[in-house]
Amino acid sequence: ARPVTLATLRGKHRRGEPITMVTAYDYSSAVHVDSAGIDLILVGDSAAMVAHGHDNTLPISLDLMLEHCRAVVRGAPRPLIVGDLPFGSYESSPAQAVESAVRLVKQGGVDVVKMEGGAPSRVSAAKAIVEAGIAVMGHVGLTPQAISALGGFRAQGKTVDSALKVVEAALALQDAGCFAVVLECVPAPVAAAATTALQIPTIGIGAGPLCSGQVLVYHDLLGMFQSPAHSKVTPKFCKQFANVGAVISKALTEYREEVEARSFPDAIYTPYKMSSADADAFA
Ligand code: KIV
Ligand code: NA
Repeated sequence: ARPVTLATLRGKHRRGEPITMVTAYDYSSAVHVDSAGIDLILVGDSAAMVAHGHDNTLPISLDLMLEHCRAVVRGAPRPLIVGDLPFGSYESSPAQAVESAVRLVKQGGVDVVKMEGGAPSRVSAAKAIVEAGIAVMGHVGLTPQAISALGGFRAQGKTVDSALKVVEAALALQDAGCFAVVLECVPAPVAAAATTALQIPTIGIGAGPLCSGQVLVYHDLLGMFQSPAHSKVTPKFCKQFANVGAVISKALTEYREEVEARSFPDAIYTPYKMSSADADAFA
C-alpha cells in the first residue's frame, strides 16, 4: 500500500488538519505533485480541457482516462490516487458504474474513484461501487459533466432551495458510503453547512475556506496558460501560485532565438568527442 491511505485522510480529518488535493494527468505532473507532499492526486477528467484542449470535460473516454491514470501512478508512489469516472462511463446503471470503476482500479492502477452528481441514480451507482470494494469520492455543486443540463459552468447553491439540494446530495453520498465529497463552486456558507453536516471530509474548489480540504487543477494553480487565447480555462476562484506558462514561453523563445543565431549548441553542449587520431583520419 502507498503511504497515504484512507486511514491517513481519516486521521487528518479527525485532527482538523486540512487535506490537500491537486490534479495530475501525466508522469511529470505526478512527480511534481508527489514531491510537494500533496495528500491526494486527482486524475481528473479536466484532462479533456487542460491536456486535450476541449471546451468542456465531456469528450474524454474511459480508455484515455486509463492512459492518464497509468502515467500518474508511475510518477507518484506516495499520494492516494483518485481516478475520475468520465462522462458516459457510469450513468446508465449501477452495473455500468461498477464495471468502469473496476477498470480504473485494475487497468488504471488508481486507489479510489470519483463520480459526479447526487441524484438518486448516482447515489445508487456510488453504493454499488462501494459494495464492489472500491472507495468512492462524491462531487456535488457544479458538476461539469452536467454542463448541458446546467446551462454552462455556473455556481450552484445560490438560493436556499439550491443550497439545500447541495447539502442533501452530499449527505446522500455519505450514506451511500463515499469517503469524501468534492464541493465545487458553491457559496462559502453552503460549503460550511455541508462540512458541518457531514462526518466525512469535504474537499472544496471555488467553495471558500470552510471545507475539510481543497483541490485545484494543476494547470490553473501553476498559471500554465498565460496567453489571452487560453485565459478562458483559468476560473476566477483559482489563485495562480506561479506563472509557469510565462516561464515556459520565455525558455522556448530563447531556445528558438539561440538556434536561429547558431549560439546553441556551443562547445559546452557538444560533449561527444573523437580521439584526435580518429578525427584526423575521418577528416
Ligand atoms: O476533473 C477535475 O479536475 C475535477 C476537479 C475540479 C474536482 O473534477
Ligand atoms: Na472531474
